[in-house]
Amino acid sequence: MAVKGLWGSTDEFLNQCAQSGDSAYSAFRSLLERLEDPITRVEARIFLSDLQRRFDTKEASEQCLQTFHFQIQDVHLQQYEGYQSRKKLTMTVIPSIFIPEDWSFTFYEGLNRHPDSIFKDMTVVELGCGNGWISIAIAEKWSPLKVYGLDINPRAVKVSRINLYLNVLDENGQPIYDGEKKTLLDRVEFYESDLLGKCKRGISPLINYCALQGFVEDQFGLGLIARAVEEGISVIKPMGIMIFNMGGRPGQGAADTDISALVEIEKNSPHRFEFFMGLSGDQPICARTAWAYGKAGGRISHALSVYSCQLRQPNQVKIIFEFLKNGFHDISSSLDLYFEDDSVAAEKIPFLVYLASVLKKNSFFPYEPPAGSKQFRNLIAGFMRTYHHIPLDANLVTMVLVYLFY
Ligand SMILES: C[S@@+](CC[C@H](N)C(=O)[O-])C[C@H]1O[C@@H](n2cnc3c(N)ncnc32)[C@H](O)[C@@H]1O
Repeated sequence: MAVKGLWGSTDEFLNQCAQSGDSAYSAFRSLLERLEDPITRVEARIFLSDLQRRFDTKEASEQCLQTFHFQIQDVHLQQYEGYQSRKKLTMTVIPSIFIPEDWSFTFYEGLNRHPDSIFKDMTVVELGCGNGWISIAIAEKWSPLKVYGLDINPRAVKVSRINLYLNVLDENGQPIYDGEKKTLLDRVEFYESDLLGKCKRGISPLINYCALQGFVEDQFGLGLIARAVEEGISVIKPMGIMIFNMGGRPGQGAADTDISALVEIEKNSPHRFEFFMGLSGDQPICARTAWAYGKAGGRISHALSVYSCQLRQPNQVKIIFEFLKNGFHDISSSLDLYFEDDSVAAEKIPFLVYLASVLKKNSFFPYEPPAGSKQFRNLIAGFMRTYHHIPLDANLVTMVLVYLFY
């Protein structure tokens, strides 16, 4: 099988891939150009089917990754119901991007626990889309209006686009239409982006997916998650949902990971993270205990949790963060809008909105005159005139008060 103007045969393509990971990536980039052009798209898609067939057992596919620095595999979705009937998707990976692990599937399972209507006709953003399989699976299963898959790694974005075409057309290069006569090309777009840098306003549910592995790493991805949530506040629709993965690689020891940030969260909130002693422990322990156990030489493993949340009083919270964007960064990173009690939130959030609106007009609070509030002095003077027949005006009130005090 050949691709006109690129490779005379599949072997020629494989020879290029075998040279290095970079060579394989550049071969796939050339293929992507062919996939993007409607004239050469079908030929390029059939070429990929042929490649996949060459490595169609699990062992051969693993070997292909080792030798030729790429892998094309089917991802089976049949355990989940959805709007569409497709049971499998086809996905490529290369070594320089994140290769889906068990816990990616845990995240997808977490998404599946939401009602089927969750993404229907919505605009969805997946942060840190890797090879794009989750964005494509969301589009396939829940028929959203649009899914934007974003990743900071430019190679991940290119591979995601290849994966999109792999699933827009079938093995014979024929377009696959859904019940609304659309293809995945109508529903999914991939872009390079540092978190939500690429996004504009008006987004609905948001998948905030940051993790330990990948381009940027930090403690459990918490810093990234915090940044993503903050960026998400301005773009998310009022009733939009943020869903995120917290934890790490389930089953693996967490000895290489500093969990002190999680211990801090536990100190300041009722939340308890789940860790386990060793690989087979079945009794969960909290981050604080796990931290102490790890320090004493024990091996801990951790659970993966998928959290969903909505903004409390979204329009008001948006106003607060919009205001803080302009020169109040330190405040926004230390602002704690966690309230256990709804009634406290109902009082404090509008107060902060009011404060923001006052500070927006004046960057300072005017000092009262040293003699005290004019309005208050008027009231005192009026009281003295009415009830004590003392002819005072506001200017004399400080002295009178001093006099009364003595
Ligand atoms: C653990 S992988 C998950 C990939 C994919 N969602 C999956 O489950 O297979 C995390 C991804 O986040 C990306 N990433 C890390 N920091 C990012 C940032 N600041 N902005 C966008 N993407 C980021 C990484 O490049 C990586 O592809």
